[in-house]
Amino acid sequence: MHRLVKEKLPRHLAIIMDGNGRWAEKRSLDRVEGHRQGAESVRRIVRASREIGIPYLTLFAFSSENWSRPRVEVDALMFLLRNYLETELQEMLENQIRLVAIGDLARLPLEVQTALQQTVEKTAQGKGMTLTLALSYGGRDDILQAVRRILSHCQEGNLKPEEINEELFSKYLWTHNHPGPDLLIRTSGEMRISNFFLWQLAYTEIYFSPTLWPDFTREEFIQALLSYQNRERRFGLTGEQVRVGDG
Ligand code: IPE
Ligand code: IPE
Ligand code: MG
Repeated sequence: MHRLVKEKLPRHLAIIMDGNGRWAEKRSLDRVEGHRQGAESVRRIVRASREIGIPYLTLFAFSSENWSRPRVEVDALMFLLRNYLETELQEMLENQIRLVAIGDLARLPLEVQTALQQTVEKTAQGKGMTLTLALSYGGRDDILQAVRRILSHCQEGNLKPEEINEELFSKYLWTHNHPGPDLLIRTSGEMRISNFFLWQLAYTEIYFSPTLWPDFTREEFIQALLSYQNRERRFGLTGEQVRVGDG
């Protein structure tokens, strides 16, 4: 049994699922096989998150830069995504999982957009967990689309520049209906953000794992959550201030 404390779980957990390609290359397999195994890891970690009771889980599944990968790899990822949506719908409904997609979704193939829309609509009533897929997502894109909309609202006279503060800006981001991420996990040993959440990560705890995503187990996932629970989040204050506030 794990020793997770229910009250100290991250409200919003985000994961950069990295290392599928290297997992396959190590075995002299096609990179696509790594993505197929990666999808199995997604199923495992979504299930574990729901069981543990994490309210918001966001998975970085495809970045704005990933469009520049070889065509066959992009096509395979799009196929796997559609396949995932189709095969998981039933389980999402049974487990009260609400699916949300964020990113520059208009760049996705039409059949993927349709599959996403349908899954989002069918699962909209799910109260157990919000599963957000970041697709065709870039942190800089997110900030820029917010700036564009804020500017046009100012030009239309519906917003004054002095009303722009952190809270308002957050409402224009694609993550507007999500709490800030408490924990970010990145697998595969890379210690970088790769244009994922830029604004949102300001005070997020980060857990880097050397494990390649297809090998990321439930046990290691729980290790990451335990590590998070043992940290002191100070938000710029002194440790003493934080501990007084706790008591
Ligand atoms: C993560 O695995 C999946 C996506 C970025 C879509 P990678 O495909 O980046 O795997 P590596 O980093 O090449 O091993
Ligand atoms: C980040 O991984 C994007 C996703 C996991 C979807 P990448 O593999 O694209 O990142 P870099 O290129 O190693 O920084
Ligand atoms: Mg990678």
